[in-house]
Amino acid sequence: MLRRGILVTFEGIDGSGKTTQINMLVDWFCKNGISYKLFREPGGTLIGEKIREILLDKGSSGMYPATELFLYSASRYQLTRERIIPALEEGYVVICDRYYDSSTAYQGYGRDIDLDFIYELNKFTSCGVEPDVTFLLDITVEEREKRLAGRSLDRLELEDRAFQERVRKGFLELAGKYGERFVVLDGIKTPQEIFEEVVRSLEPLLGKKRLV
Ligand code: TYD
Repeated sequence: MLRRGILVTFEGIDGSGKTTQINMLVDWFCKNGISYKLFREPGGTLIGEKIREILLDKGSSGMYPATELFLYSASRYQLTRERIIPALEEGYVVICDRYYDSSTAYQGYGRDIDLDFIYELNKFTSCGVEPDVTFLLDITVEEREKRLAGRSLDRLELEDRAFQERVRKGFLELAGKYGERFVVLDGIKTPQEIFEEVVRSLEPLLGKKRLV
């Protein structure tokens, strides 16, 4: 594929502030006339949104870890072929609210599925498309609990504290292993402080001057 655009992914445990940062980034792109496309995982396509419903439904409590992995993977493959690759070919900045690192962290570290297997599967489902930069919003599990208190939670969010700890550790290990594309952001800082770091990291990729 002729890749003219760039792929920016956001990762982190629930409540880490991904959505806030993505909204700020989208505003910033609009103000600066940068053409972008925003997708979320699971979902982002008609088929993917149907898969998302199955995955997040509390009624899907009997789902085996491998079933879960394959459903996330199916959604990702569809999104990559149908939306991400065409957008990158057209030169868009593609923002993805979660991508394959979530499968490694949640299904690998969280559910204990073999990491090498997930690595191979991720290569397949992403058609070899790697993020140019991955922002990891990191918060502690205690902070997550404070932030999610009172919210209605989906199936994955209802998993216990030990599961969330494993997922967080998984993300941090990935960030250590793929340091060239990961930017770890301390999610306890203010949204504006975090956003400045996001822009600072993106600027070289966008070939733009600091505009914030
Ligand atoms: P979502 O409501 O999008 O959560 P958030 O807004 O916190 O990103 O739901 C996505 C859930 O699916 C989230 O709990 C993480 C989980 N997930 C996986 O377990 N594996 C994956 O590969 C992906 C993409 C998400």
